[in-house]
Amino acid sequence: MKYAHIIGWGKYVPSRVLTNHDLERMINTSDEWIARRTGIRERHIADARETTATLAFEAAARALVVADLHPSQVELIIVATSTPEYIFPSTACRVQDYLGAIKAGAFDLSAACSGFVYALDMAAQAIATGSVRNAVVIGAETMSRVLDWEDRGTCVLFGDGAGAVVLKGSDIEGGVLASTLRSDGSGGDLLSLPAIYHNPVPTLEPEYFHNGHKHNTITMDGRQVFRFATQVIADSVNETMLKAGLRLEDVNLIIPHQANTRIIEAAAKRLKVPEERFYTNVQLLGNTSAASIPIALCDAVSDGRLHPDDNVIFVGFGGGLTWAASAVKWNVTPPTVSRPRQEWRRARYVYARGRSKIKRYGRRLGAWLGGSPTPDAKMRDIKKKP
Ligand code: ACO
Repeated sequence: MKYAHIIGWGKYVPSRVLTNHDLERMINTSDEWIARRTGIRERHIADARETTATLAFEAAARALVVADLHPSQVELIIVATSTPEYIFPSTACRVQDYLGAIKAGAFDLSAACSGFVYALDMAAQAIATGSVRNAVVIGAETMSRVLDWEDRGTCVLFGDGAGAVVLKGSDIEGGVLASTLRSDGSGGDLLSLPAIYHNPVPTLEPEYFHNGHKHNTITMDGRQVFRFATQVIADSVNETMLKAGLRLEDVNLIIPHQANTRIIEAAAKRLKVPEERFYTNVQLLGNTSAASIPIALCDAVSDGRLHPDDNVIFVGFGGGLTWAASAVKWNVTPPTVSRPRQEWRRARYVYARGRSKIKRYGRRLGAWLGGSPTPDAKMRDIKKKP
């Protein structure tokens, strides 16, 4: 059995900032209300050219630099997201292509705001059993695309961003020590984001056009979710510590899903842990769902809140309902990578995109020469038929 260590981390948030004051001009709300109830002051919003996949790629590329791992050596990519551009191809496959990770398996994982911790555990298990030697685990979201911007009860809460870690197998004891994954589907209606068919089949009745749903935007029962969250944070942290053989005093830092500061304060009280031991950055980023924990990890590292041999607990909770926690021993010191080397590494992603384009054109050319129509041409033929 190998130990799965975190050897690289990276985050990316879009440059556009939307403050509470900006929201005051859009809907009937106030900076004072949002800050008092949630702690959030501002969030980042993706621009028109950014997608969940491009945010995920940026975070993964940064994590690979820290890990000093070439993309062609990556064996598994998991993207936890609730906001993919496509059901398939998965966001993970798009990231695989952008990275040029030619030997990696890739898939998306759907567990809402708990997704990153679920994905971390899946990857750690795959490494522990020897199925893969390393993995890139990403949480990435463009929540701004699935919000009802007229619903002040939800649109003020969320933001966009991505965070990633690189896991690698080692004989050195440590890394991901234990995890707890839980779900309760009976609470699915408390927090949901319906899927929608953008491209309805013309022969179906209109009610099927929208998959039975009126909108594909988030709906939430805030109070119930609040109650659920405070309870499961404490329970899953306790259970995970027990599995990892840790006591509360052995835990140096708890990185919770960044939904809002009041949830975190209530959970700290329930666990009887000083609030300072919980890391928060929700004030500047809002709730970035599956991306919030890996982004917070990156910020905690750059704030000097994690040191070699520290024990850290990640704890997520969200739609499903789902909740999950992982205990990690933080015992790998990252290598320092020089600026020119970092720039050189960026260049290889340009090469990866070029190679991907050539492969795509090659397939089209092959189909054209071989006389078999491409899917686009087939669809055009179907539409032409009376
Ligand atoms: N600005 C001003 N007033 C508002 C806003 C807003 N943005 N949103 C709601 N209000 C009003 C409501 O209309 C209501 O007014 P009324 O009393 O006249 O009807 C009043 O504020 C109270 O509304 P509640 O929804 O009861 O407010 P609450 O105190 O529960 O706070 C909140 C709402 C912040 C969402 C809270 O329920 C909460 O923190 N819930 C946790 C859910 C959460 O964080 N979800 C994030 C996503 S889930 C996840 O990541 C797991």
